Amino acid sequence: MTIPWVEWASLMIRWLHLAAGIAWIGTSFYFIWLDLSLRSRRSMVKGVLGESWSVHGGGFYHVQKYAVAPEEMPAELHWFKYEAYFTWLSGFALLVVVYYFGATSYLIDPARADLAPSEAIGASLGFVIGSWLIYEALCRSPIGRSTPMLALSVLMLILTSAFLLTQIFSDRAAFLHAGALIGTIMSANVFVVIIPNQKKVVAELIAGRTPDPALGAQAKQRSLHNNYLTLPVLLLMVSAHYPMLFSGGVDWGWLIIAFIVVAGGVIRHFFNTHHAGGRGVALAWQWPAAILLALGLIFFIASRGPALSENKISDTRALKIMTTHCAGCHAAQPANTAFSTAPGGVVLDNLDAVRRHSKQVMAQSVTSQAMPLGNLTQMTEAERGELGQWLKGQ
Ligand code: HEC
Repeated sequence: MTIPWVEWASLMIRWLHLAAGIAWIGTSFYFIWLDLSLRSRRSMVKGVLGESWSVHGGGFYHVQKYAVAPEEMPAELHWFKYEAYFTWLSGFALLVVVYYFGATSYLIDPARADLAPSEAIGASLGFVIGSWLIYEALCRSPIGRSTPMLALSVLMLILTSAFLLTQIFSDRAAFLHAGALIGTIMSANVFVVIIPNQKKVVAELIAGRTPDPALGAQAKQRSLHNNYLTLPVLLLMVSAHYPMLFSGGVDWGWLIIAFIVVAGGVIRHFFNTHHAGGRGVALAWQWPAAILLALGLIFFIASRGPALSENKISDTRALKIMTTHCAGCHAAQPANTAFSTAPGGVVLDNLDAVRRHSKQVMAQSVTSQAMPLGNLTQMTEAERGELGQWLKGQ
């Protein structure tokens, strides 16, 4: 009996990561909505900024927000932080299990940078921690005082990282890392700024002093950043399932990530404007802009990919390419000892099977270079062009 422990660890941690992430994003969306839905009335209690009524689960909720804090601390106070912490911890554990244990398959692409696993792991940690430090420095610098300047600088930071990541890692690792470094910035916002600031406010209050309103304002700025970054992170995290996203390759991978970050932010902006009571023109442009961006992305990706071979490709040639580059792993009994069955249940050792999977094969190894995994067999552009030509004729 052999037990694939790493696979099991990957599955269980992924389950936790999804659940924690859903809980975190759920509370984040809820509180941003709550904040924007607050309305003020004349006869409100002293210190109350606004209130909001909602109905859910058979009852009515009446929430009031205090600008700084109530005059007296309530006996029971609920905090929201473990969702963020567990999302990051499980996400990091998943990064270790999938990309560090499987560095040669998933992290390294020798055609990009022929790194040793230890070097690749060092680079991965450097990116995740380094980009967070730069983000923190940007927020605390004079740039941090202007919302548009800060937004632009953070976008530049993400895109520069994306560019560098696609230069050294496999596409799938580069996209995942772009998501991981944004996710790290978001969790660190909770851990380093939002919760500590709130703790300071509570401590001041218990000591009978008036807390500095700047503490709350800073926490709110970070929580808004998190809100705008949520949708891009989600797409980047599932990008490995859609290798067509990787067709920008080493030159244009950053541009595809730019589409994702900007389109995700614009869609969030629609909801934020709507929750804040915006109507009419204020809401008119976000969806058209997001749809135009998505169409731009789709047409851009369609224009990429290797030139298909001009010659007609015989079945024998196609089978030769598949056996050389795919069947080592994708066979009922793979020759590659890392796999006990065909990965993903996809068998590619005969042409009928390849025909059945023709769309997937096209997406994984012609329009993108996601397969062969880590380009272990060093498949060339010309071979991809030949395979694409053959698949088109089927
Ligand atoms: C070194 C082993 C290896 C080689 C060689 C390899 N693959 Fe894969 N392939 C994998 C693994 C592992 C997965 C599962 C990937 C994952 O977990 O995301 C996979 C998944 C796939 C999938 C399913 C993706 C999905 O939709 O889930 C397709 C299709 C595929 N490979 C096609 C190919 C083609 C075509 C080739 C040859 C050009 C190839 N593979 C070469 C290891 C390999």
